[in-house]
Amino acid sequence: MSFSPYLLKGQKALITGGSSGIGEAITRHLAGAGASVAVNYHSHSENAEKIVDDIKSSQGEATAIQADVSKEDEVKAMFSQTLDHFGTIDILVNNAGLQKDASFVDMSIDQWNAVMGVNLTGQFLCAREAAQEFLRRGVRPDISSAAGKIICISSVHEIIPWQGRINYAASKGGINIMMQTIAQELASQKVRVNSIAPGAIKTPINKSAWETPEAEAQLLQLIPAGRVGEVEDVAKAAVWLASDDSDYVNGTTLYVDGGMTLYPGFSTGG
Ligand code: BGC
Repeated sequence: MSFSPYLLKGQKALITGGSSGIGEAITRHLAGAGASVAVNYHSHSENAEKIVDDIKSSQGEATAIQADVSKEDEVKAMFSQTLDHFGTIDILVNNAGLQKDASFVDMSIDQWNAVMGVNLTGQFLCAREAAQEFLRRGVRPDISSAAGKIICISSVHEIIPWQGRINYAASKGGINIMMQTIAQELASQKVRVNSIAPGAIKTPINKSAWETPEAEAQLLQLIPAGRVGEVEDVAKAAVWLASDDSDYVNGTTLYVDGGMTLYPGFSTGG
């Protein structure tokens, strides 16, 4: 673990979709940096429980909480459970997200709503609940110079259009302006809100894009760094954004994409 186990000491974090992929890595890294973590999952309790056990066996504090973040009552119940368990919350990682791909003309309203519901409405609901607690409690100077931190997991597709995934790209574009608006509204109350926009990271969501050498070679044409990202690349950025080391960073999107947003197709002059 590259971070000090005291960096986030005393801080309580909730990670939505924290039991797999990028969310799991963020959960483990925040715990490794000393935070107590609530691991939200939607359907597979085994993964969440395994992560909780691992963290507890390294003397960390963790709990698993089931909720569908697109449902207001479930989000409220999840925050009540988190506050009952940890007393308060200092860090929210809005990570839960999904894809349901279809061409624009064939996309059903169910595919549209399912993705917007989790990726955008889910982030709104969780951010609102977290912010209410941040404002109620205020700054605890011995813990952090912020009253609270929200990290929204976005995507390079908040700016790169993506054919066949209009629901996903629109949800991520929405996250950007939502994140900035919350940051603007709460900055004077010492709440920091930022996004991380990952590029292609090896997770189950995009397995078909990197699992064969042919697919990976094609994907690498879009990545100047010459490698597909690892979940740790994103998790390390999340720990930094959650810590006071980034105290002067607010309303910003950090692209963790190996240069995917540099329009590599233009690297030879276009
Ligand atoms: C998507 C991945 C995709 C990546 C780059 C992410 O937001 O979830 O499926 O590989 O963007 O296109």
